Amino acid sequence: MVEKVQIQPRRPVYPTPVGLITSVDSKGRPNIIALGEVFNLSIVQPVWVGISVREATYSHGLIKEQEEFVVNLPTADLLDAVLGCGSCSGRDGIDKFQKFGLTPRPAMQVKSPLIDECPVNLECKLVGFHHVGDHDLFIGNVVTQHINKEMLSAQGDIDAGKLDTIIMMPKSFWRMGDKLGTFRI
Ligand SMILES: Cc1cc2nc3c(=O)[nH]c(=O)nc-3n(C[C@H](O)[C@H](O)[C@H](O)COP(=O)(O)O)c2cc1C
Repeated sequence: MVEKVQIQPRRPVYPTPVGLITSVDSKGRPNIIALGEVFNLSIVQPVWVGISVREATYSHGLIKEQEEFVVNLPTADLLDAVLGCGSCSGRDGIDKFQKFGLTPRPAMQVKSPLIDECPVNLECKLVGFHHVGDHDLFIGNVVTQHINKEMLSAQGDIDAGKLDTIIMMPKSFWRMGDKLGTFRI
């Protein structure tokens, strides 16, 4: 048998995709937070996603108050903007769209804007909130999914290479590797 060692668990499920989450204040001013904790919760009926957000962040209050958010999946070339959005707070009056060269695009069913540069955008209405240890879990019902048309094959399948999602490990970022196979569920 291979030798196994026991290490201190810290963010122990990986890799995870990185998301840029947009929200708005009561005047419609948008904010962006970078998150590594973005996940599917219910897959088809309903389509619900979860995001884990620390209470200390500005986005936490906006999402709780406005009961909506947009999950945007950035491409690898947006890593600098991701790190920027994750290292300053909208609470300090910073317009992160302007500061990090991102373009707001009106959503269809929520007030929070999409990030135009991100190829996937999920408009979410809040359906649940739970304290979960050092983060709070927001559950969003995905009311509209947008994807750049060029990311889809003729059969409507998503081209992972073009999507170029940023993948997060405990201390590093990666991009997708080789396709291993296909499946249907
Ligand atoms: C790659 C990356 C992943 C992050 N993941 C999370 C996360 O899952 N949850 C969280 O609360 N903060 C996370 N952060 C930190 C927030 O993005 C950061 O606190 C941000 O400045 C909060 O912005 P706001 O105060 O404008 O909402 C992450 C930051 C980076 C760069």
